Amino acid sequence: MKVLGVSGSPIKNSNTDRALQVALESTGLQTEFIKLKDYSIAPCQACLGCLKTNICVIEDDGRLLAEKAKEADALIIAGFTPYSSLDARTKAFIERLYPLRHTHGYMAGKPGGAVITCAIPADNAMLPPACDFGVNAIRFYMMEEGMEFVGEVRVKGNVPCIKCGHGDECTMSGIKMLYGEDATVASVGVNTFEEQTDALAAAVELGKNIAERLKSK
Ligand SMILES: Cc1cc2nc3c(=O)[nH]c(=O)nc-3n(C[C@H](O)[C@H](O)[C@H](O)COP(=O)(O)O)c2cc1C
Repeated sequence: MKVLGVSGSPIKNSNTDRALQVALESTGLQTEFIKLKDYSIAPCQACLGCLKTNICVIEDDGRLLAEKAKEADALIIAGFTPYSSLDARTKAFIERLYPLRHTHGYMAGKPGGAVITCAIPADNAMLPPACDFGVNAIRFYMMEEGMEFVGEVRVKGNVPCIKCGHGDECTMSGIKMLYGEDATVASVGVNTFEEQTDALAAAVELGKNIAERLKSK
């Protein structure tokens, strides 16, 4: 049994990567971690050139990654939410799994899960529900391919203004927008996955749930 984990986060050893790695390790199975930044992958061009072969006509790493997804017994997709939607690399990866669909449904029946890191606090109804949008993009892909969505991990990420050096005086700073008028770089601090006990527990649970589903097959 092999579980494939794919991270769209371009940041080295990011919160998203580490949450995904905990979920993968928690399966206790053979796993492979893929960082999409290390691959070249264009979005689907909707040409339907894959209809007969189940292989995309675009000659980039999307073919290799689709093959890995096809060979895997389970798939965890991890992304983040720039401008409150799923990041472009992760979205391109999902689109490039489309060739696996025609007549065979190669992903159907496989267990899957989502890891999403977002900076927008989930409890502020005045802001876009970035985490929901990110999780749903992955969940709906899995639903539409007949996969079994077994769980999700929501990680509190960091608005880039925390680290840019101008977070307290810049008129475009996202710190006050996200955390209120009195918020500062110092008062908000840096969010780290390992300090988020709920996210850590969700990552362990996701891995265990995927392993259980696979063993019951
Ligand atoms: C250009 C850009 C725009 C962003 N916009 C949003 C946003 O609209 N909502 C949000 O929740 N996070 C936003 N973020 C923050 C990312 O979700 C945050 O950086 C996340 O923690 C990255 O995850 P990582 O540390 O695992 O790479 C944005 C980040 C970047 C770089």
